[in-house]
Amino acid sequence: MKILLSESQIREGVERMAGEIAAAYSGRQLTIVGVLTGSVVLLADLIRRLDMPVRIGVIHASSYRGGISAGELIVQSDWMPDINGREVLLLDDIFDTGRTLRLIASQMSDLGATSVKTAVLLVKEGRSEVQLVPDFRGFSIPDVFVVGYGMDYQDLYRNLPYVGAMEEGDLVG
Ligand code: IMP
Ligand code: MG
Repeated sequence: MKILLSESQIREGVERMAGEIAAAYSGRQLTIVGVLTGSVVLLADLIRRLDMPVRIGVIHASSYRGGISAGELIVQSDWMPDINGREVLLLDDIFDTGRTLRLIASQMSDLGATSVKTAVLLVKEGRSEVQLVPDFRGFSIPDVFVVGYGMDYQDLYRNLPYVGAMEEGDLVG
């Protein structure tokens, strides 16, 4: 596996994003909704860099069935806090086709959120299939399959402290 982003690069990127988010919501209250499972590490790191009032919620979305190809997108929102009248920032690990964030963003609007913005650690270049463009991003990366810092391959590698690019020989099935 090749290291794409080191721990210190990620730290700098998250710090920069936190600064941009704090500036954008200055003086307002924010509800950050993390898209599980991939956003857990980013969520924990990012919120500790935000010196402002924040509420935290989570939602579960999955489309990857074990491997690297997407299947049906399933969203589970049983643990969502009430977001009616709140400013929501959806947080995910990576923006690939954008289908996940587009669907969840429209659900948040339907639930009465005053505003819905999106933030991701990574944007895969040239892959988007939607109009939505993330409002905050850590890094743009080429179209490679990545793991670590919350992201998985067959539910493994989420605990790596860096972002690694899987190579041909690492992938099975
Ligand atoms: P999208 O709906 O195509 O934008 O896919 C977003 C979701 O797919 C992310 O929340 C990730 O869980 C997953 N995903 C997309 N690309 C990768 C990758 O390279 N590694 C691990 N997970 C990925
Ligand atoms: Mg995900």
